[in-house]
Amino acid sequence: MEEEASILVIDDERGIREGCRRALTPLDYSLDVADTAVAGLRKLREGSFDLVLLDLMMPGMSGMEALDRIHEIDGDTVVIIITGYATVEAAVNTIKRGAYDFISKPFTADDLILVVNQGLEHRRLTLETKRLGAIEEEAKELARAKTELEKLDAMKSRFMLTVAHELRAPIAAIQGYLGLILDGYAVDDEQEMIESAHNRCGELLAMIQDLLLLAHIKEKATEVKKKTVSVAEALEEVAGLLRMEAERKGLTLEVQISNRPEMLADEEHLKQVWTNLISNAIKYTPGGGSVVASVGQKDGQIVGGVSDTGIGVAADDMPRIFEEFYRTAQAKEMAERGTGLGLPIVKEIVETYGGTLDVDSEIGKGTTFTFTLPPSLEPGGDTANGGRVVGDTDGD
Ligand SMILES: Nc1ncnc2c1ncn2[C@@H]1O[C@H](COP(=O)(O)OP(=O)(O)OP(=O)(O)O)[C@@H](O)[C@H]1O
Ligand SMILES: [Mg+2]
Repeated sequence: MEEEASILVIDDERGIREGCRRALTPLDYSLDVADTAVAGLRKLREGSFDLVLLDLMMPGMSGMEALDRIHEIDGDTVVIIITGYATVEAAVNTIKRGAYDFISKPFTADDLILVVNQGLEHRRLTLETKRLGAIEEEAKELARAKTELEKLDAMKSRFMLTVAHELRAPIAAIQGYLGLILDGYAVDDEQEMIESAHNRCGELLAMIQDLLLLAHIKEKATEVKKKTVSVAEALEEVAGLLRMEAERKGLTLEVQISNRPEMLADEEHLKQVWTNLISNAIKYTPGGGSVVASVGQKDGQIVGGVSDTGIGVAADDMPRIFEEFYRTAQAKEMAERGTGLGLPIVKEIVETYGGTLDVDSEIGKGTTFTFTLPPSLEPGGDTANGGRVVGDTDGD
């Protein structure tokens, strides 16, 4: 059941107002009248009307101006101009300005009912078209969201499969060693086998720790553990720990700090970023090479970088090295062991804090990883309101 249409008559001539009332009331329209444009506009602002019958020639405000005002209040209001013979040309102009139609004085009740019904039908169709458009837009949006969810779901399944696959290898190896020992086949090299099993257990644990870290970065970053921490200090600490390893491989490890920006973060996260990038550089650079880690600031952002003169990454592999478990053929050749979770952890941390991670590399020449992070707004402050609310990034 449709609602009854509401109509407003704006005319300074009492006879016209009353005539309209007599003609339209029997048709179950709710009707209101106003004797000036100003009074009519007030009524339009206060209530809602489907259709306005507007006299073109009234003292005070021109019909043209009143028409514009009506459409400012509601662009979908249907306006029918009431005009005398002398003003037909002006009435035609109002149609160009958005009036639906005009009716010339004097008119009969039938003339009026005809034009009013046409106007109301026009309004109904306009609104219906709009509604359908909105529904269509909503349907498209839902379809997009569905595709997105399906993609996420597929990614999740693939991730689970990869994890299971990666966990199986070391466990199968350990079971193999233990089986040989149990069956008495390892009399001479029992010690060696126990060591191998022990090493594979270590790898397994490291992988599980990385997976747990990866899963919890987002929630950890929003915990109260955040403090104002120095990105340079985290680098110095990590470089201190990794220097021996670099030297053992015959590499130089240089640290360049041009300033000491601070940010709100979990200190462990910053150390993870440096540890993963620097240990990759050490791992994938042959003896005699060099590794340089740097901190600075650019365009209001903290910028960190790790460059090496190592094996590099082929262009095809570039986008994939940030995927969980992905390792390039060259990397596998150079270092047999590795889970391929280091870079995904770095990426997740950097993005969780609202930063970016980029890589530039030439195969056989070397690689540079660069990341940006937002500095805390109040250097030296240690409250959460001083800086960016970490973890409160897009998508949360
Ligand atoms: N500095 C680098 N030089 C050349 N290749 C790199 C470098 N850093 C990363 N890569 C490539 O990206 C891959 C993924 O790196 P990631 O740190 O995630 O894994 P990984 O070092 O192989 O193993 P993990 O860090 O888990 O022990 C590496 O296997 C290697 O192919
Ligand atoms: Mg690594």
